[in-house]
Amino acid sequence: MAQALRIAVIGVGRIGLQHAQVVKDQPAVAELVLADNDPARAAQAAAELGAEYCGVDEAFQATDGVVIATPTSTHAELLLKAAAAKVPTFCEKPIALDVPTTRSVIAAVKAGGAQVQLGFQRRFDAGYVAARAALRAGELGELRRAHMLTCDPQPPSPDFVPNSGGIFKDCGIHDVDALRWVSGHEVVEVFAYGANRGAAFFAESGDVDEAAALLKLDDDTLATLQLSRYNGAGYDVRMEIAGTAGSRAVGLDAHTALVSAEPGVTFPDGQPHPAFYPRFHAAYTAELAAFVRVAAGEITSPALVDDALEALYVCEALGVSYTERRPVRVDEIRAQ
Ligand SMILES: NC(=O)c1ccc[n+]([C@@H]2O[C@H](COP(=O)([O-])OP(=O)(O)OC[C@H]3O[C@@H](n4cnc5c(N)ncnc54)[C@H](O)[C@@H]3O)[C@@H](O)[C@H]2O)c1
Repeated sequence: MAQALRIAVIGVGRIGLQHAQVVKDQPAVAELVLADNDPARAAQAAAELGAEYCGVDEAFQATDGVVIATPTSTHAELLLKAAAAKVPTFCEKPIALDVPTTRSVIAAVKAGGAQVQLGFQRRFDAGYVAARAALRAGELGELRRAHMLTCDPQPPSPDFVPNSGGIFKDCGIHDVDALRWVSGHEVVEVFAYGANRGAAFFAESGDVDEAAALLKLDDDTLATLQLSRYNGAGYDVRMEIAGTAGSRAVGLDAHTALVSAEPGVTFPDGQPHPAFYPRFHAAYTAELAAFVRVAAGEITSPALVDDALEALYVCEALGVSYTERRPVRVDEIRAQ
């Protein structure tokens, strides 16, 4: 592995600060530099982590790789800067909240030629990896159904929701990417419901705090998806896949946020995960380790910009289905 890489992390908020620590711990990373549009925050994070800090534009200069962990609404602009600087980039999902912007960023990324890796960390989670491998090895027979859920224990802050893209693009995009990646099939049609049972700021932003959807794959596999912002039992992310010969459950372990109603059954007997970073720490570490290898030129990106666009099509279709109360074919969105 090429050593002594200089990697910049832009945006040192909730996830960026954690990503910065993981990047710093990679043996091939010699220098970590932090940037944020709040320079005091960058300076403080740099002091805490023993890193340097610089301005946002500077972060694209003289670095071997850039990690973008800023709010979603800023990803497009920063990815365009990365494309112009031809620097390998890791970007948190999604690229943008709308299809035209996503397509124009992808065109610039491809024209620039530098690798871009999207933050679909479930591709690096041991459970998703094992479920995919079992399906590919034929251990499940023919895939017949999938069930996915992403449930947060508490709602995000009122400031986050208006710029998040809504529950389907913000949360569901991970489930959609996992469904595509694990099954090896594309989603062709969706039907979604949503409900406003919680804080008024969800409805005020045109968002919902509970959602459920049906997704049909191109081989007629039927999948279900549930999303919640108020899962009192804890942070709960799971996927079940079942076929004609077997099944696998991802996220079913001692920490699953479930209590059995069966007398005498004590499983799961660990503490539920409180939030995304503890649940996916190993996966975030593995995806950023992979990005360091991408930045070193050793491997190609394991989560492409085209994957982000495909997932966005499906999430857009879910939103249209919810709003217009009808089944939506993903091709309808793709054709726009
Ligand atoms: N993969 C996952 O599991 C996962 C989990 C949570 C969040 N995310 C994604 O990570 C991204 C960041 O989310 P967060 O919750 O950490 O946000 P946050 O608001 O906590 O932090 C964002 C940081 O970026 C800075 N910032 C804002 N605009 C900037 C700009 N133009 N240039 C430089 N810095 C800027 C802010 O000052 C802040 O420090 C979002 O896109 C979100 O969707 C992904």
